[in-house]
Amino acid sequence: SAAEKGGWSSFMAKEVSEEPDAVSNTLRGRLHDGAVVIPELEGLDDLFRDVSRVIVIACGTAAYAGQVGKYALEQWTRVPVDVELAHEFRYRDPVLGPDTLVVSISQSGETMDTLMAVKYARERGAKTLSICNTQGATIPRESDAVVYTHAGPEVAVASTKAFVAQITALYLFGLHVARLRGSLSPVEIADHVVELEAVPGKIAQILEREQPRIEQFAHWMADTRSVLFLGRHVGFPIAMEGALKLKELAYIHAEGFAAGELKHGPIALIEAGQPVFVIVPSPRGSGELHRKVISSIEEISARGARVIAIAEEGDAAVLPQADEVLRIPLAGPLFEPLLAVVPLHIFAMGLATAKGLDVDQPRNLAKSVTVE
Ligand code: G6P
Repeated sequence: SAAEKGGWSSFMAKEVSEEPDAVSNTLRGRLHDGAVVIPELEGLDDLFRDVSRVIVIACGTAAYAGQVGKYALEQWTRVPVDVELAHEFRYRDPVLGPDTLVVSISQSGETMDTLMAVKYARERGAKTLSICNTQGATIPRESDAVVYTHAGPEVAVASTKAFVAQITALYLFGLHVARLRGSLSPVEIADHVVELEAVPGKIAQILEREQPRIEQFAHWMADTRSVLFLGRHVGFPIAMEGALKLKELAYIHAEGFAAGELKHGPIALIEAGQPVFVIVPSPRGSGELHRKVISSIEEISARGARVIAIAEEGDAAVLPQADEVLRIPLAGPLFEPLLAVVPLHIFAMGLATAKGLDVDQPRNLAKSVTVE
């Protein structure tokens, strides 16, 4: 009903506007003087200290959150992390044992593919942690431990605010394990905590400064038949999430690629006028990564692509080739995906709205897929 939407045109518009709160509510009560304390995991140190492998399983948007989390988890804990679609994991006879931690991610906590994979992992002797947005749902009940995301109820079928909350929860968990294993110093952890605490304000800035422009721009693009998304490192799963959201909401053919893969195939798709979103990593992080993405932009724009860059404020290297630049505030390299995804959510929603589609109830999709 209109009242439930709180004055917003759709649940999705409301939920995108709640992305800052989804992050801050997921952090709430879990940060203390630069340290991470997750009350739900108290007394469970043995579950996490000695794991030698992490496998993240999920479906849809939650799996992209897992892919972002892999970069941080591995870097901070030095434990190898794999990310797999739950339905693929379950049917390939994976190697599992008591030193394997299977982390499932699910907004609903009821996705059958993910639930079956969690049960399977437990039966095979692995430890299981659930990252879930729904208190008391089936997946957390079937797991050894749970870290809840506090995004609040998500009604629109396609996931938005839960995605940023899932990355936040994975980061908190990564810092928790890094402390247990001593793989990061307290000072390093405190630096990452500062970054996490700054995320909600930065997302709010994007919504305030860029949303009207992005919506206008999505309106102009309402007739587009195909959109590509390129990213590298943590920008790669964000590219795939941007593409997924556009397929789900606007029924447009969209694909996300790793920018480095361009020359191995996708560049053949580039022709005059092809819109390509490029997620540009900060030049202050890895200068090399930044240069490589800029050179990808040069390659596609030389072939006539219409480049829409998502780049940090002040990054002038994107200006010569990009047709549009959507700005995100400065953040540490691992924290950029929490910002870069926001313009993509706004864009997909804006384009679907411009086409007159129901952004809350896209055709053929269900909020929670409770069949395998
Ligand atoms: C459905 C929804 C997606 C969601 C996926 C996983 O396909 O349409 O938006 O990402 O399920 O859902 P979960 O509840 O497990 O996160």
